[in-house]
Amino acid sequence: MHSLGILLSGRGSNFVAIADSIEAGRIANARIGVVITNRADAQGIAIARQRGLTALTIPSKGKTRAEHDREVVAALKQHNVELICLAGYMRLLSPWFVQQFPRRILNIHPSLLPAFPGLEAQEQAFAYGVKVSGCTVHFVDEELDHGPIIVQKAVQVLESDTEPRLAERILEQEHIAYTEAINIVLSADFEISGRRLRRR
Ligand code: GAR
Repeated sequence: MHSLGILLSGRGSNFVAIADSIEAGRIANARIGVVITNRADAQGIAIARQRGLTALTIPSKGKTRAEHDREVVAALKQHNVELICLAGYMRLLSPWFVQQFPRRILNIHPSLLPAFPGLEAQEQAFAYGVKVSGCTVHFVDEELDHGPIIVQKAVQVLESDTEPRLAERILEQEHIAYTEAINIVLSADFEISGRRLRRR
């Protein structure tokens, strides 16, 4: 049984999508070992608790990145987490953190990387006037929104769109993409050469 660790800072809809996929058998042979937030008021952590999952708040405020990362890594290891899913975790991981779990940390980002990394990606894409945007699930490396890509989903920008409507349609695709990416990684049936992930 694979143990997943979820890190989140807010709403938690990607976490809920992953938890639902596990419950429905769309992700087989996996469980959520621990859900961790850096923000006590994150909606996602309340949902994790309601669902009876191990849910920890490890505040980042007032700590150095190194101190906070050490605490989070210790909690993940204590819960024997094998794969870490960043699900709206609004903190940069230190290189040390990334090195603790090589090719074992995934992130979801609401744009087609390498376009629009960083904050408010949907807003950036909408303001830029792109006709297609989407989402990306990728391995986390030492750079922001950067590691090898596992899954991408494209979303058309409609003539009638507003930024919130576009963000909503991207979010629907995020929920599908994360489950697909987790299944690919847990299957171990892929190889990476350079940045390119290829399924075997
Ligand atoms: C999602 O749109 C996710 O892609 C984005 O934060 C949102 C979290 O929503 N992540 C990033 O922008 C990371 N750079 P959720 O809490 O409902 O899953």
